[in-house]
Amino acid sequence: MAQANLSPAVPKPDHVPASLVYDFDMFADPGMIENAHNRALEIVKEAPPVFWTPRNDGHWVIAGHNAVFNMSRDTERFSNAMVSYEQIHAMIASMPEGAPKPLIPAPITYDPPHHAVYRGPLQKAFSPKAMTALKDSIRELAVALIEAVKPKGECAFVDAIAEPLPVTIFLRMFGLPVERQREYRDLVKEHFEDTDSDPSHVQARLKKVTDIMHDTIMERKENPTDDLISLLWQSEFNGEKATLWDIQNYCVVLFAAGLDTVVNGMSLGAVHLATNPQLQAELRADPDKIPAAAEEILRRYTFTLPPRFVSADTEFEGVQMKHGEKAVLMLPAADLDPSEFDSPEEFNLAREGKAHIAFGTGPHRCLGSHLARFELNILYEEMMARLPEFRLDPDKPLTYHGGHVWGPDEVYLKWDN
Ligand code: HEM
Repeated sequence: MAQANLSPAVPKPDHVPASLVYDFDMFADPGMIENAHNRALEIVKEAPPVFWTPRNDGHWVIAGHNAVFNMSRDTERFSNAMVSYEQIHAMIASMPEGAPKPLIPAPITYDPPHHAVYRGPLQKAFSPKAMTALKDSIRELAVALIEAVKPKGECAFVDAIAEPLPVTIFLRMFGLPVERQREYRDLVKEHFEDTDSDPSHVQARLKKVTDIMHDTIMERKENPTDDLISLLWQSEFNGEKATLWDIQNYCVVLFAAGLDTVVNGMSLGAVHLATNPQLQAELRADPDKIPAAAEEILRRYTFTLPPRFVSADTEFEGVQMKHGEKAVLMLPAADLDPSEFDSPEEFNLAREGKAHIAFGTGPHRCLGSHLARFELNILYEEMMARLPEFRLDPDKPLTYHGGHVWGPDEVYLKWDN
């Protein structure tokens, strides 16, 4: 079925030993489309912790927990940028005055030391204190969305709850018009489904994101409010006032992160709860267990795969890598690695002492983790309090999307009122 969409396999380069080749198309692997995390468990069992796949032009996949941890923190040898800061800035300096500059997603594609300059302005905006102030509005919206579907005895969960909840909260925070939600979500989906990594194509894709927000960005420059875009306009970078280009560089990252991640986290959580009535009963009886359940769901169903680029020929975990090669940090596999988590496939509320890596690690660790955690916890609390035992609709089987952010395409839930 999904076989037809597999990208063509390219020959392995000479420095890659045959023992490290494992076939995994991160966008179209048929096993992943059928059940993303079962496929991740299979990869953990079958593939080396660092392997090379011939799909999508050939790249490394870092699947072992230790290897993911080490690469995430080794920013000297593994860059978040396809093209170095120095090269991009040399190119920009040589461009004619007024020519449109290439977009550089910030802060995520900056490496230290430049990274700190761009991460700085967002730290306070996403701090636990700032996010605590949103708790009431998150709960109010969660309650309204759940109550709207409750009498029906069923819902398409992504469409009815997992999408509108975090997306509305983020659009309000960002200062974008909530009524354009559908348009923004469609663009984000198009963005994540696009597998073409040609730099001019990537730039065209990013420009679509800045175009859709352009009017709001300019309006906030003239009339600042208390939203994130206004805050970014008031920031300074290396002693210089923020420019439109700086704001656009942030917008492309925040738009994608804010409009897609939590949607998938909630959907994966709903699938787990719907297929585990005993867990639902346990959480309804003792809601204090919900935070531990939310964390264990994040570990068991970790769902992002951030990229890295090899900065110079090097050896990593005994493997030869060449300058310019791409590596994908397979966080879902890292959190299912038995060398880090005992019986990783088991959902265990009493796991102690081992932190999951769902939000990444190292300097790029997720800035939105506090917001995401509040949203996930509040949603689970309200679902447990307001809905009777719910299950998956057996007539509507699940399918998953892969790529850099995994999740179910839709989750059809049913319950008996
Ligand atoms: C459950 C939901 C989420 C998950 C699992 C998640 C996961 C991640 C991961 C793994 C990274 C590290 C990427 C890397 O190492 O290259 C990251 C970075 C980031 N995330 Fe999230 N994220 C979530 C929600 C959010 C939200 C809601 C926002 C904002 C509204 C957000 C904003 C960011 C930003 C700005 C970065 C880049 C940080 C930097 O480069 O310094 N994330 N996220």
